[in-house]
Amino acid sequence: MQIVDLRSDTMTQPTEVMREAMARAEVGDDVFDEDPTIHRLQDMAAEKLGKEAALFLASGTMGNLVSLLTHCGRGDEILLGDRSHIFLNEVGGLSALGGIHPHTVANQDDGTLALEALENAIRHSDLHYPPTRLICLENTQNYCFGSPLTPQYMDSVAELARKYGLMVHLDGARIFNASTALSIDVRELTRQADSVMFSLSKGLSAPVGSVLCATRDWVAKARKWRKMLGGGMRQAGHLAAAGIVALETGVDRLAEDHQNARTLAQGLKRLPGIEIEPEKNPTNILFFKLDHPQVTPREFLEQMDAQGVKLLLMEGGVFRAVLNRMVTREHTASALEIAKSILTR
Ligand SMILES: Cc1ncc(COP(=O)(O)O)c(C=O)c1O
Repeated sequence: MQIVDLRSDTMTQPTEVMREAMARAEVGDDVFDEDPTIHRLQDMAAEKLGKEAALFLASGTMGNLVSLLTHCGRGDEILLGDRSHIFLNEVGGLSALGGIHPHTVANQDDGTLALEALENAIRHSDLHYPPTRLICLENTQNYCFGSPLTPQYMDSVAELARKYGLMVHLDGARIFNASTALSIDVRELTRQADSVMFSLSKGLSAPVGSVLCATRDWVAKARKWRKMLGGGMRQAGHLAAAGIVALETGVDRLAEDHQNARTLAQGLKRLPGIEIEPEKNPTNILFFKLDHPQVTPREFLEQMDAQGVKLLLMEGGVFRAVLNRMVTREHTASALEIAKSILTR
């Protein structure tokens, strides 16, 4: 049976070119900072994102955690979206391991945090308050329909941060989806942030890894936190080799995923019971609901799955479908046909 896996872009598998590059990679001990392939990846990433230096890490979660630990001390407070991945899906690592206090601000559907709400959330000095240290943004904002934050919005947040002496961390797990959707250079979206994490293992198709980019001094500190968390990975150049291919070949094709997402959203909208606003989902992530007289959301999920189309059913009966390199235009059309056959029976 043909499998069309729409649960996440983390399902992407390494390309043939990646597999070859991994096998051939020249490696060394990265804890000794002697892995030439990791150096190449880090230099490439820093250059692409317009930062001085970069650090290769095992995952996006580790990249975000290392960033927060590098920016904040115990008892410091960070401001972040109530629909952000760091707040919802990273096991509360910032509190458990860093003693960092998360202060959420409501995410709007376009992924932004209203500037006024953000400013109001910044603590003034008072004996009772934890000091605000950092603002975290996410671009694209996964749980806000995969929305890209614009450079203008990023500029406004950076200006606010500077006014109050705060740092800005960007969870840019899908930053290249954002720059693709906005048709701009990715640096337009990273220049405002003091630290940026991006994922190699999602739409870019590498099997493992994320990269953290910032100033040279900051990255030196982050490197120590990575070691403390057990993230010193020795001959990980074999993994970084795939990351290099991901950066060389993965970015330009993200537009295809966005196009397939648009096709899927428009097709789903025509089906009975499906509630989706295609224009609200501008990148590779779609969210929709089902209110159908004969088919419950759970039944839809199971019947799609039985025919090889895998979706995520989240809290509140919300479905998520994430387009990715493993899902072609033909797969997209076939997923739509299967959905239609279930909902129009
Ligand atoms: C926005 C965002 N940030 C961070 C992460 C964490 O990445 P990882 O799964 O590599 O830990 C994810 C994962 O889906 C994500 O969607």
